[in-house]
Amino acid sequence: MARKKIIAGNWKMNMTPSQAVELINTLKPLVKNDDVDVVFCVPAIDIIPAVEAVKDTNIHIGAENMYFEEKGAFTGEISPEMLVDAGVKYVIIGHSERREYFAETDETVNKKVLKAFEHNLTPIVCCGETLTQREQGVTIDFIRQQIKVAFLNVSAEQAAQAVIAYEPIWAIGTGKVATTQQAQEVCKAIRDCIGEIYDEATAAAIRIQYGGSVSASSAPELFAQADIDGGLVGGASLKADFGQIVNYDK
Ligand code: 13P
Repeated sequence: MARKKIIAGNWKMNMTPSQAVELINTLKPLVKNDDVDVVFCVPAIDIIPAVEAVKDTNIHIGAENMYFEEKGAFTGEISPEMLVDAGVKYVIIGHSERREYFAETDETVNKKVLKAFEHNLTPIVCCGETLTQREQGVTIDFIRQQIKVAFLNVSAEQAAQAVIAYEPIWAIGTGKVATTQQAQEVCKAIRDCIGEIYDEATAAAIRIQYGGSVSASSAPELFAQADIDGGLVGGASLKADFGQIVNYDK
C-alpha cells in the first residue's frame, strides 16, 4: 500500500497564542490536500487555541516536545497526558535544536518515543548529521546509530506507525537544502535500517520526512523521491508558502 505523505510545520519558538490563531486562519484554506496528512507542530502554549482553530479542517496539531515521565516534580515540563487531553496527535522528538541547546541524547529520545507510544501519540523522531560528519563520510553510520537507539524496545507495530524526520543539521535554517540525491540516499538508508531492526513490512510502512530549508520550490522534487514521504518544515511553515508545499503535487 502506498504511504500517505505527511507534511508538518515546525513553528519552533515563534507565534504567540493570538498570532497562532491568526496564522492558522490564514493557512486553513491554503493547506487543503486530502492526499496528505497536514500537521502544525506549535509551541506548547499555543496548543489549546490552535486545536480550537483547526476544528473542522484537515489540519492536525502536534507538539514540539514532551517529557518522558507521567507526572510530578519536573518544573516546566509537559507530560504526554497533557498533550493528549489538549487534543494533540503528533509530537516531535529529539529535534537537533533540542539535542544541541537542551542536552537531549539518543537515550532521552528513546524514552520519549516509548512514552509517546504508550499514550497513542505519533512521534516524529528527528535525526541528522552535522556538516563535519558529512564531510568525514560518517553520515550513514551516525544516522543508523541514532535510529537504532531511538527505536530500542519499540515494537514493530509501533514503529510502523512512527514518523522519522531526516534533518541534516547543516541544512536547517541555512537556506542550504540537501540535494535531492543526498536526501533520498539517507532516507533510503533509514528505511533499510528499520528493515534490519524489524522486517520488510515495517520498513515499507514507516513514513520518513526530509527537513532542512524545504521551500515551495524544492518540495516537489524532494517529495517525489521513493523514500521521502513528506517534510518537516521550519521557516516556510510560517508563511503562505506552506500552502504550496502541502500542494507540492498540484
Ligand atoms: P527550516 O525549514 O527553517 O530549515 O527548519 C527545518 C527544521 O528544523 C524543521 O524541524
